[in-house]
Amino acid sequence: MNIIYAEDYADLSRKAANQIAAQVILKPESVLGLATGSSPLGTYRRLIELYDAGDVDFAACRAVNLDEYCGLSEQNDQSYAYFMRENLFRHINIRPENTHIPDGMNRDMEAECRRYEEIIASLGGIDLQLLGIGHNGHIGFNEPDSSFSRYTHCVELAKQTVDANSRFFAKREDVPTHAYTMGIGTIMAANKILLIASGEGKAHILLEMAAGPICPQVPASILQLHSDVTVIADKDALGLLMEKAPHLVTGAPVV
Ligand code: F6R
Repeated sequence: MNIIYAEDYADLSRKAANQIAAQVILKPESVLGLATGSSPLGTYRRLIELYDAGDVDFAACRAVNLDEYCGLSEQNDQSYAYFMRENLFRHINIRPENTHIPDGMNRDMEAECRRYEEIIASLGGIDLQLLGIGHNGHIGFNEPDSSFSRYTHCVELAKQTVDANSRFFAKREDVPTHAYTMGIGTIMAANKILLIASGEGKAHILLEMAAGPICPQVPASILQLHSDVTVIADKDALGLLMEKAPHLVTGAPVV
């Protein structure tokens, strides 16, 4: 795991966007695994700037998103399909038919999970998977559990996650309680993984992820076993790692 220091959110976003742009420049037909949430917003803004400047072309690129809430249609402004359209896809030249996300309105869970895994397989797998990390160590919506999940599945969201998401909804009862998510196995099968984290609130979980035991109670800890993981995090998120395991962090200023 290569953990790269960023000064702040803007620096993190620029570094993460550079990695994604490099992937697409080197392999224009790349399959990008994408994430939603606050963490990637700056990265997406920076990718749009790179696209506008003519530095990166998404015409041949394919995208598969990590997850989607159950019960929200793609027109719902809290759905992840809406988020991706508004924050990235409609600003770049990726073809809509090349963007994939689980169908939150499909009530046939087994069929939906199978369909999504088949899409990823038909694309030849994921070249670069972008991840955020939950305060409880979740990646995608793989919540702390007694075992690691393999494939795309439907999950009941942890109370902490529902609480964290409630800031986006007018009423608490509108906050979805279930979601479709790629499994840990689906994520681990990606050729490369890029995880981004910002802010002091993530410091504790970054330490557990990178330097703690590998266990399903901290789902992101399994990334220690992947052969090509880059973590880009700002100095607030890296606070505890720099204090307890500074040898794991690359590029931190020498004081
Ligand atoms: C989003 C996702 C989640 C988020 C995580 C962090 O598609 O899968 O795992 O990455 O909840 O969210 P933020 O970035 O809002 O802190």
